[in-house]
Amino acid sequence: MKILGSGHYVPHTKVTNDDLAKIVDTNDEWISSRTGIRSRHISDGEEASDLAANAAMEAIKDSGLNATDIDMILLATLTPDRMLPNCACTVQKKIGAVNATCFDINAACSGFLFALNTANAYLTAGMYKNILVIGTETLSKVTDWSDRSTCVLFGDGAGAVVVTADDSKSFYAVTGADGVKGPVLAGASTPLRNMLIKGNDDENLADSYFMKMDGQEVFKFAVTKVPECIGQVLEKADVAVEDIDLFVLHQANIRIISSVSKRLGVDPEKFPVNLHKYGNTSAASIPILFDELRKSGALDNAHKIVLSGFGGGLTWGASYIEL
Ligand code: ACO
Repeated sequence: MKILGSGHYVPHTKVTNDDLAKIVDTNDEWISSRTGIRSRHISDGEEASDLAANAAMEAIKDSGLNATDIDMILLATLTPDRMLPNCACTVQKKIGAVNATCFDINAACSGFLFALNTANAYLTAGMYKNILVIGTETLSKVTDWSDRSTCVLFGDGAGAVVVTADDSKSFYAVTGADGVKGPVLAGASTPLRNMLIKGNDDENLADSYFMKMDGQEVFKFAVTKVPECIGQVLEKADVAVEDIDLFVLHQANIRIISSVSKRLGVDPEKFPVNLHKYGNTSAASIPILFDELRKSGALDNAHKIVLSGFGGGLTWGASYIEL
């Protein structure tokens, strides 16, 4: 599988740590020392499909194709505009990709990796030719803005790539899930409400709507599972860890990224970071960083790349790609 083009888009409104200190009891020193995050972009009206459409149009332009050449759109999100129609169909309409079949994938912050893996399967099977893979999130709408332990972590944004089949570029992936640990990071419940069920009143619904997280459990899970699945994907690809040019990790916390670099015994310089600008944008974080690296020339001499992430579900994944 070959990446033909990439793009990203974030909402224009930047919210700094000092801005957040005006609405919850926090400060820049706490947030930046514990997470590495300095600011994030928050939507003042654009939906996940708007962010995605902007990133997608940039990726399609970068690929040299037209929107009508795209025959599949795979969109990873945990914050779609609505449940129906799916967000991929809404993006299809916005970008005029009339020949694409479209569906969403939800694997939380690992969603883009799951979608890329799915794209590879369709390409390998010869069923589709040019696939647009998107990660997009408006996490701000499932964030409890009165909870300082979570609201400082997240941001909105979208990233996209266009991929096609190419036998000369290897692609390997590992994905996994542990539903038993789901409650460690959960939110936006939509309880069953019908004429047979009593008690799901609006107050209960509001209480269960926001993301809730056991930060320390997620931290422990991430620092063990990410190096483990990177090891597994490199074994599959038969590539040594020292031969990887760059590791593009999910941007959740600088301390998680540093710990992964230490556990793998790899120079931290091989782990580019942009979480200080965007916070954790869930399914969008890997494609946003990938696109920034590509446009900045940082990938010009990079041939072997690993993408890896973790998230709600719990889910995790790692992909080995060749540029
Ligand atoms: N500002 C100031 N103080 C705060 C804040 C804040 N924003 N948030 C929490 N605190 C306080 C707590 O109340 C607590 O105070 P106490 O000691 O008086 O009780 C103290 O700081 C320490 O809180 P901890 O939760 O123990 O802090 P910790 O060092 O674990 O850091 C953090 C919290 C940053 C969330 C960390 O656990 C972490 O990064 N976990 C991983 C989270 C993550 O990556 N989530 C996303 C992954 S999945 C996805 O991407 C959707």
